[in-house]
This record gives sequence, C-alpha cells and structure tokens, in this order.
Amino acid sequence: MIFQKSTVTIKTLSLALALVGPAVADDYRPAFHFCPAENWMNEPNGLIKIDSTWHLFYQADPTANVWGNECWGHATSSDLLHWDHLPVAIPVENGIESFTGTSYYDGDNTSGLGTSSNPPYLAFFTGYTSLNETQDQRLAYSTDLGTTWFKFPGNPIISAPQEAPHDTTGGRESRDPKVFFHVSSGKWVMVLAHGGQDKLTFWTSLDAKSWTWVSELLSSQIEGFSNSISGWEVPDIWVVIFTPAQGSPPGGNGVVALTGSFDGETFVADPVDSSTLWLDYGRDFDGALSWENVPASDGRRIIAAVMNSYGSNPPTNIWKGMLSFPRTLTLKRIGSKQYFLQQPVAELSTIDSTLTSIQNQTIAPNQTLLSSIRGTSLDVRIVFRIDSGATLSLAVRKGGSEQTVIRYSQLNSTLSVDRTASGDISYDPAAKGVHSAQLAQENTELVHIWVLVDTCSVEVFGGQGEAVISDLIFPSNSSDGLSLEVFGGTATFQSVTVSSVSL
Ligand SMILES: *[C@@H]1O[C@H](CO)[C@@H](O)[C@H](O)[C@H]1NC(C)=O
Ligand SMILES: *[C@@H]1O[C@H](CO)[C@@H](O)[C@H](O)[C@H]1NC(C)=O
Ligand SMILES: *[C@@H]1O[C@H](CO)[C@@H](O)[C@H](O)[C@H]1NC(C)=O
Ligand SMILES: *[C@@H]1O[C@H](CO)[C@@H](O)[C@H](O)[C@H]1NC(C)=O
Ligand SMILES: *[C@@H]1O[C@H](CO)[C@@H](O)[C@H](O)[C@H]1NC(C)=O
Ligand SMILES: *[C@@H]1O[C@H](CO)[C@@H](O)[C@H](O)[C@H]1NC(C)=O
Repeated sequence: MIFQKSTVTIKTLSLALALVGPAVADDYRPAFHFCPAENWMNEPNGLIKIDSTWHLFYQADPTANVWGNECWGHATSSDLLHWDHLPVAIPVENGIESFTGTSYYDGDNTSGLGTSSNPPYLAFFTGYTSLNETQDQRLAYSTDLGTTWFKFPGNPIISAPQEAPHDTTGGRESRDPKVFFHVSSGKWVMVLAHGGQDKLTFWTSLDAKSWTWVSELLSSQIEGFSNSISGWEVPDIWVVIFTPAQGSPPGGNGVVALTGSFDGETFVADPVDSSTLWLDYGRDFDGALSWENVPASDGRRIIAAVMNSYGSNPPTNIWKGMLSFPRTLTLKRIGSKQYFLQQPVAELSTIDSTLTSIQNQTIAPNQTLLSSIRGTSLDVRIVFRIDSGATLSLAVRKGGSEQTVIRYSQLNSTLSVDRTASGDISYDPAAKGVHSAQLAQENTELVHIWVLVDTCSVEVFGGQGEAVISDLIFPSNSSDGLSLEVFGGTATFQSVTVSSVSL
C-alpha cells in the first residue's frame, strides 16, 4: 500500500476501522456512479434533459436509509458523470407520498400550466396514501426549467375510483405513470403498471389533466411471454420497457423490453423470444427509465436503473441504493434475432485515464496479464479471439481470498459474473452465485467484453451490448488487483485497455 503524506490521517482512520470490522471507511461510496449524499434511493424517476442539463429524479427517503416517505430526490449534471445534489423536488405532502413517474416538456402549453412564451415542464407521479394504501395519479409542473415544482391544485388527475373498473386490487396496484405526447394522434398518452394484475393500461388526454382509459396490455396478449413473469412495475415506452418483480433469469426482479406497434391507443406486442427479452442478466438492474427531451442532434435513447435488489440489506450505512452507469439503448438484428443493445455512454471516456494498453498478444494457460495493475474504479475493454473450448477469465477487485470473476466460455458462448468470492456476500441470500448471459452467435468470433468496476459494483457488457450483467459486490478496499487468464486453450488479444476512472 502506498501512503501519501496528505492522506495519512484518512488512511490511518480506515485502517483503524478495518481492525474493528469489515466496514469500509468510505462506506463503499462509488467513485463514478451516482448515489444519494445520504439515505435511501430506489429507482430513477422523471429523467429529462432540459437545455444542457441532465435531470435525475429518483425515489428517495430523505430521512432514513430504508424504503419509506417516498418522494422525488433530485440531482443535475452537465455530462451524466458529475452530479450536483439538489433539494427534494416533489416532497411528501399531507401524508401523500410521491411515487415513480415521468417528466415531460409541454412545449405547446396544452396543460395551461405555463404560458405560450414559457411553456411548462410536467411531472406525472403516483400519489400514495400509506394510511389506506391507495395509489392515484398526480401532476406537478415547473416553469423554471425543472428547478422548482408545484403540485397541480386539481390533483389527483386520475383518482382511485376512476381507476377502479380497470384495477381489481382496490386501488393498491396502479402506478408509475409513463407519459408522452403522441404527435400523430395529437394526444397525451399515459401508461400505468398494475403490479398485482400483470398488465399495463393506456390512457389518453388532450390537456394532460383530464384522462380517459383506452386500452390494456395483458401478459396473455404477448405471444411467448411467460405468465411466471409477474409483478409489473415502472413502464417506459420507446420500445415498451418494464420491471417485473418476479421471473428474471437471476431470480427476483429484472427489466424486460418488447417491440411492437402503437397507434396512439393500443400497443400490439411482437412475439417475444425469451433469449432476447431481458435487458440485464445480473441481480442489480431494476426500474429502468429513459431520459426524455434529448435533442435530435444527440439522438441517443439513454437509460439508467437502480442497482440494489436487497432492500436495506447492503452493508452501506450512510447511503443505500445507487444508479447504474447511464447506457445507450439501441435495437439491432443480429442473425435471425432482434437484440436490444446497451453500451455505457461515451462521456465515460472523458474521465478515463489509461493504466495499460496491450495489442496483439497471445497467452497460454500458464500466463497471466494485468497482475501489476491496481484499481477499485476501472474501465476494462477486451477484444479477443479464443481457442475452441477455452475459457477466458478476468478477475477484478482481487486481493487475499477475494475476487470477482468475469468469464467467457467459448464452448457455449456464455458470459458470466461470479460473485462467490467477491467479498461480503452475507448481507442477503441473493448476494452470491454466478449470473450468466449468452452472446449473439455472430459476436463470438472476435469477442468484445467491456467491464465497469466501481467501489461496490460491476457492470459487464458483452458482444455489442446484447449480453449485460450488472451486480453489486462488496470487496475490501484493499482488493484492488486484476488478472487476465485463459484456460483450456490460448487467447489472442486484439486489444486490452484498462483505465482508472475518477471524477
Ligand atoms: C481505497 O483504495 C483506493 C485505491 O486502491 C484508494 O484510492 C482509496 O483512497 C481507498 N479508500 C479508502 C477509504 O481507504
Ligand atoms: C398557456 O397557459 C396560459 C396560462 O394558463 C393560458 O392563459 C394560455 O392560453 C395558454 N396558451 C396556450 C397556447 O395554450
Ligand atoms: C385514502 O385516503 C385518501 C387521503 O385521505 C383519500 O383521498 C382516499 O379517498 C382514500 N381512499 C380510500 C379507498 O379510502
Ligand atoms: C495488430 O495486428 C493487426 C492485424 O494483424 C495490425 O493491423 C496492427 O497494426 C497490429 N498492431 C500492433 C500495435 O502491432
Ligand atoms: C507456457 O506453455 C506453452 C505451451 O502451452 C509453452 O510453449 C511455454 O514455454 C510455456 N511458458 C512458460 C513460461 O512456462
Ligand atoms: C458454459 O460452459 C462452462 C464451461 O466452459 C460451464 O462452466 C458453464 O456452466 C456453461 N454455462 C451454461 C449456461 O451452460
């Protein structure tokens, strides 16, 4: 360990804490991922770009690091990397909590909540009354570019009684409005998730305030969609995205994406293929939403999700719940299948500094690369060919008996993340084990693996981004080594680049 004079006090403190228990002095705070300054967050809300500012709202309990008192926390960024923490945007009021929803620009002031010279930004959210567990849909608006938000005096915009004919749970399972303006029909469209009934309902409006039910999308209407994928939440629509609470490949919740056609009232889903349905094969990518109002000159559809599917169990104390690194989402046909591709946003490169770069090197099973590289927040990109039957193995956050191992098995084109020895896995029964994903057949000749490592996370993007695995890990801070090896044959690296990432 290298000690720098200026940081001796902090290092000594962290060593002292290390002696009394597994706590890490910096509370596992990520180096380049967003997490709250303190207390609880769950999924992102109302993601929107306004002028040159990326807004991140998120489900927060600003008073504790457990779920409760849910409201919209707020942070902004000019680059999706450096975030400023702002005051709560949409607080709990009169016992009504502010659950997940959408922010959207009402450029024509159709709501009348702004003026034609200063049109409003609208925020649609679910109001939750914990006393009787009722969920209804509500509206807030901003006339100062998303800085301050006022609740619409006529709330709720969809009451529990209005939802009742479409909701068999007595108002307890209608939530997470995704709203957008559908240009060709000239109407606002709202998509609601009905967790207990495994369906989405679609509503339309001319003024964003008065809403009419128009259709629903049931599990049984989606050819090839297993009815064991249940507990639908947090819809988005560009393609249709939502987060079922049960049925994902690693168990528990996960994010699915469906293509189809939408005529302004009804979404007709294309048949799904279970091998291309899930956006992420790790345990920790839930409640994904996309940024709205991204200028056409940028043109990206960028998504982010919460990384934490263990409630308040993860071993962080000051904060709980972090945001995935923002990713682009695109669609591409590879071979006979349509894939959703995800890649870290290119802004990442601006905070990378290269530690090593290797080209055109072949290794055999007795050779190890990267063993002299150290780091706890890294961007690792590997492009390689591998012998038939061989397995590539990249260990990150390695030290003592700890390591998190990313493997690519040529035999079955499978990418995996192994958390068995990743560090603290005692905090939750689902915190251990191996998660795996298939690479598309055409992406297995020259294999691409892109790994983001942070203080307590790994996100692995395989191929062109069709095989993604995101997991939390809780290694000791001193587990900062790497190794790159091959078993059962040789591997030839076209390139290996390891960069340290810091803001
Ligand atoms: C953890 O390790 C990294 C690099 O190995 C170092 O930069 C950082 O200061 C350490 N943090 C603590 C709290 O010891
Ligand atoms: C915008 O809202 C204002 C304030 O309610 C209203 O007076 C005006 O008519 C609206 N303009 C349009 C174009 O809808
Ligand atoms: C639940 O409480 C809210 C707030 O007091 C009220 O508006 C609503 O009607 C109640 N719902 C039911 C089903 O009692
Ligand atoms: C690596 O190999 C490729 C293809 O053989 C070649 O074009 C490239 O110049 C090589 N790069 C280096 C750094 O040797
Ligand atoms: C590694 O193994 C290869 C063949 O598998 C052999 O040619 C080479 O000499 C070995 N290198 C070392 C350093 O043992
Ligand atoms: C793929 O093959 C490896 C052996 O190379 C094996 O460990 C792994 O379980 C296999 N994965 C799947 C999903 O079949």
